[in-house]
Amino acid sequence: MDQSVPPAPEILAHSLLAFWADAGVDCLYQDEAVDRIALGLSPPPRRVELAPTPLRTSGSPAGPAADAVAQARHLASQAHDLAALAEAIASFEGCPLRYEGAATRSVFSRGPSDAPVMVIGEGPGGDEDARGEPFVGRAGQLLDRMLAAAGLTDRVFMTNTVFWRPPGNRTPSAAEQAVCAPFVERAITLVRPKMLLLVGGASAKTMLKRDEGILAMRGRWFEWRAEDESLELPAMPTLHPAFLLRQPAAKKKAWSDLVSLVQRLDRPERPH
Ligand code: URA
Repeated sequence: MDQSVPPAPEILAHSLLAFWADAGVDCLYQDEAVDRIALGLSPPPRRVELAPTPLRTSGSPAGPAADAVAQARHLASQAHDLAALAEAIASFEGCPLRYEGAATRSVFSRGPSDAPVMVIGEGPGGDEDARGEPFVGRAGQLLDRMLAAAGLTDRVFMTNTVFWRPPGNRTPSAAEQAVCAPFVERAITLVRPKMLLLVGGASAKTMLKRDEGILAMRGRWFEWRAEDESLELPAMPTLHPAFLLRQPAAKKKAWSDLVSLVQRLDRPERPH
């Protein structure tokens, strides 16, 4: 390549955007960049700070996280249908992700309200944030194709463990998941599915309160229990479609998980 010819501006711009995207910067909040270092400005204040409590396995959170969880519980309990729950989530200010990763809005659910299967993913990504619906990006489209092949189209209600996009699509923290958990639980009690499909390690760990890797949990049946023990449902962890896009050879495992879920779903109920 001739080193003396500078690259075309669009190639430079492309390369800079790719560099930012790799660093997790994939949306712009203002038309003009603000050089906060040059201006001596401190970063904008975060509206909510959650204590980095290890919430997954060790009971109740403390401090601001406990307040946010209590508020989420209260709002969730007041929601008597899914539309009211969606509104309660949209108005909830206790999850810091709302002010960090989400460019637009909360992302709650997709699918029929009487679905027999509830899919619970990790958290919305960029496409979901832009559209306001879960699992609509590349990974979601793969999941849709797999669900269709398993005869589950229109038989699943989809949501996530958190309702705002984590910045740079990182895994949501246990604290972020804990403040959103009362809404997830309320969604389960309103939909009353027959079973849960927990998509990816971050979903399986928090929903089942277990600290095993997804490869050890996938394909096995667990019992999900509501916090007040008023409801118990069979739950199957499986591999996340984003992982399957990177590791297509693992699709075989995810497919066998779906097959065993459908077999259980369509098994005639034994008389008591
Ligand atoms: N990944 C998830 O876990 N959930 C979505 O909604 C989209 C991608």
